[in-house]
Amino acid sequence: MSKNKNKQTIWNVRIKGNTSKLFEKVGSSIDIDKKLYKEDITCSIVHVEMLFRQKIISFKIKNKIIYGLNKIEKEIVKNKFQYQKKYEDIHMNIEKRLFEIIGDDAGYVHTARSRNDQIITDFKKWLIKSTNEINKNLDNIIKTILKVAEKNIETIMPGFTHLKNAQAVSFAHYLMAYIEMFKRDKARFLNNLKSLQENPLGVAALTGTSFNIDRHFTTKKLGFIKPTSNSIDTVADRDFVLDFLYSVSVCSLHISRIAEEFIIWNSDGFNLINLSNKVVTGSSIMPQKKNPDLLEYLRGKSGTSFGNLFSMLTILKGLPLSYFKDLQDDKEIVFKSNETLNNCILILNEVLKNFTPNKNKMLELANSGYITATDLADYLVKNNNMSFRKAYQVTASIVNYAEKNKKKLNELSIIELNKIEKKLSNDVLKVFNLKYSVNSKKSYGGTSFDNIKKMITKYKKELK
Ligand code: ARG
Repeated sequence: MSKNKNKQTIWNVRIKGNTSKLFEKVGSSIDIDKKLYKEDITCSIVHVEMLFRQKIISFKIKNKIIYGLNKIEKEIVKNKFQYQKKYEDIHMNIEKRLFEIIGDDAGYVHTARSRNDQIITDFKKWLIKSTNEINKNLDNIIKTILKVAEKNIETIMPGFTHLKNAQAVSFAHYLMAYIEMFKRDKARFLNNLKSLQENPLGVAALTGTSFNIDRHFTTKKLGFIKPTSNSIDTVADRDFVLDFLYSVSVCSLHISRIAEEFIIWNSDGFNLINLSNKVVTGSSIMPQKKNPDLLEYLRGKSGTSFGNLFSMLTILKGLPLSYFKDLQDDKEIVFKSNETLNNCILILNEVLKNFTPNKNKMLELANSGYITATDLADYLVKNNNMSFRKAYQVTASIVNYAEKNKKKLNELSIIELNKIEKKLSNDVLKVFNLKYSVNSKKSYGGTSFDNIKKMITKYKKELK
């Protein structure tokens, strides 16, 4: 093939003349999918190895193609590869370069395959790699939370419902709630592997192929578990993209929730934590300000992730089978979601390493809002032979009394308590102690110190 001919598009015989420049601009995806060069080359190498094993191409041609592909990979790594928009995407860019390097034998590489199966094979391999990376990053957050938790088992703060003081909890227990969320995120990403590990290569454009290919061979060589079962579904399916974007969205949502908690706790009204200078920024006009911008970034970015999920759902809605150009946008959406999430995970980890709980303020806040009222009601059930509902009413009367007399529950004397419930003895006063309150929640999963220690040990073991 002459050099000049090679400058033309693959379809130049059928489609004479150049495509409108405008379409080249919007239709080309090379700026986005060049990220997949490694996967594309690996998949092509395995593809030609299979073609040779199946006696579809010769030994010599297989080796020539592999030589050319390896050379291209080196060029890309060394930034010496020239991507061209007119060849649309990573597949055509590589194929065109292969022609330049090895000549007309490059024409055999695309036997028994289409860009339609090629792209999803590359994309699935990339997603498997990214999934593992995200999960590794999530492990780092879990490790950081555990470090903070270990130092704060006996740090007492109010637990909230409706953002009103509810019951006292350990700060470690509170933070470890997020470990549970991040563990579920990891499991959600891992669940996606089941469909990601089905190999699309070999379904060709949409029907499969008349060549005697071996999809089980490429499946094994590429590290997939099994070949996909229906060729039409395979090229049309982007459920694995939705699953990934949904997993990213839920993980971003968790990050957004902890970011919001920290923003509230860091506010002057709450003042429960201090953020170090590393994770705050100043104001251009108010000299005193230290703003939690990074946390706001985390909260804001969840919106981008949800948007990406909805973009993909909308692209797929109403799309007939099988491949359409509409699907090409999946890469841009996923790459953005993936990058944003990884940034958010790194930032959250940085914030978690750069804050201190304001223990006195936490305790002070926990001492307000009659936070031990439920402990008193439980005490009455256990020691004074009352039903819980009766004990609840007696306790409510005691809270009313305290409120009217502008006292905290732990400031009430036994004489005052006896005015409302005469059966109470001095022993009851212990329930107003916050440490006692927290440590009494010994039920599995509760906030007692022993439970927390056991959970920390369990989480650490899981990380190994
Ligand atoms: N760049 C394309 C994409 O990402 C690859 C598949 C192209 N297939 C086609 N029939 N135009 O969707």
